[in-house]
Amino acid sequence: MKICCIGAGYVGGPTMAMIAKQCPDIPVHVVDLNQERIDAWNSDHLPIYEPGLDEVVKEARGRNLTFSTRVDEAIRESDIIFISVNTPTKTFGIGAGRAANLEFIEKCARQIAKNANGHKIVVEKSTLPVRTAEAVKRILSSECSGATFDVLSNPEFLAEGTAIDDLLNPDRVLIGGESEAAIETLCSVYARWISRDQILTTNLWSSELSKLTANAFLAQRVSSINAMSALCEATGADIDEVARAIGSDSRIGPKFLKASIGFGGSCFQKDILNLVYLCEHFGLREVANYWEQVVVMNDYQKRRFSEDIVKTMFNTVSDKKIGIWGFAFKKDTNDTRESAAIYVCRDLLRERARLCIHDPRVPESQIRQELMAACTDMSGHLTEKDRWLVENNVSIAKDCYEAADDAHAIAVLTEWDEFKTIDFEQVHASMHRPSFLFDGRNLLDQASMDALGFEMHAIGKSFNRKNSPN
Ligand code: UDX
Ligand code: UDX
Repeated sequence: MKICCIGAGYVGGPTMAMIAKQCPDIPVHVVDLNQERIDAWNSDHLPIYEPGLDEVVKEARGRNLTFSTRVDEAIRESDIIFISVNTPTKTFGIGAGRAANLEFIEKCARQIAKNANGHKIVVEKSTLPVRTAEAVKRILSSECSGATFDVLSNPEFLAEGTAIDDLLNPDRVLIGGESEAAIETLCSVYARWISRDQILTTNLWSSELSKLTANAFLAQRVSSINAMSALCEATGADIDEVARAIGSDSRIGPKFLKASIGFGGSCFQKDILNLVYLCEHFGLREVANYWEQVVVMNDYQKRRFSEDIVKTMFNTVSDKKIGIWGFAFKKDTNDTRESAAIYVCRDLLRERARLCIHDPRVPESQIRQELMAACTDMSGHLTEKDRWLVENNVSIAKDCYEAADDAHAIAVLTEWDEFKTIDFEQVHASMHRPSFLFDGRNLLDQASMDALGFEMHAIGKSFNRKNSPN
């Protein structure tokens, strides 16, 4: 058996590396159009930062794990072909801003149809709208090359930052399909390290929809706790205490109840908008409106945080230096796609703040690129003022101290563990007074920061807590 995967991104790369590690006898070939990305996968500096990934890749690369741009050859040689290309939200035409752009999926299916010989199992790894497999099947059968196909849906549930553990010990693996034989072939790969009772099999459509549903439920929990954080700030309740109290109800459970500046990442918003579009397509307006609120609440939370910063700092941040700690969408990743930090920074820039940004893993070019993109409207227009602000009012710091030096405020936007062990006394000494500290991740200990003299504001914690009834 031979496996290939089209798309060497955050999902395709780690997933295939794990399959290659666990199945040393199965050649696994990861292909991508992007030569630079492939070169990075073949180097000592992998294109993505993910704890534990280096070791897994090093173990399998050169043995049974290959990275290349030879897509046609990989298709011809493989029995199982995973499609793991990106499916961004459409920015043009019908469904712009909501529907998934399936251009890359269609191109892959056509390329597979053109190059395939014999029998191939085509596996959708990318998150897709329900019934995409129908289109993939039609495209595959349109070439009349004599090749035959089975299409399976095998969505990925790994989260960035914990991808290796999620792949090694998944809660479940989901495989949807029509052909028992094809399902069994894919099951037999995962069964090398995952127990059979954790491998769920369903029909194609349930599998496709389950991935969208899982992401919608997870994002909904974040929006729910963030909604309550606003109420906590207004009433003197403490969001961490509320989360602990509700999370110990076994029906609710403790995970995914951390209030924040809003969820980011390449999946949650894209998948919910896609779900909303699907519901509208099927005439289910109330269902669409219900899920759309999860994104509306998330946008509110991001905006609320930057507005609170401005209000707290005497209604102006113009020409004030603000140290930004963290830019990635969560800790332990270099991924910034849809990071809440982007929008908080953009809004502060438009208030004319001077931002000095430090993230342990995100390079300067990526930060500037994200900010430029966030200032660009749907038609591709970037105002001269916004460009000027990103070019002149953003600087990048090598560490947290430099970001905070001579600043009026610090905003913690990603929950990197290393931010907890900073010498806060030194930081405080280098800042203006009052030394504002806005903790967008509830990462830091409020009492210690108060004691050092910071004026700390945290999500879901009323600032006037000392005067609150308790
Ligand atoms: C994944 C999933 O596939 C997506 O559906 C999900 O919603 C988010 O996660 P991800 O791996 O994070 O995507 O995307 P990305 O890191 O952008 O990787 C996709 C790769 O596919 C890129 O390296 C891109 O160059 C490659 N690609 C894209 C191709 O090789 N061929 C194409 O036609 C299009
Ligand atoms: C998510 C899903 O968890 C994963 O199963 C799916 O395959 C892809 O999408 P990912 O986006 O990588 O994974 O990370 P996740 O840990 O889910 O975090 C998403 C966002 O929500 C981050 O910005 C994170 O900071 C935020 N979040 C998460 C919170 O604000 N609070 C929480 O309690 C949990």
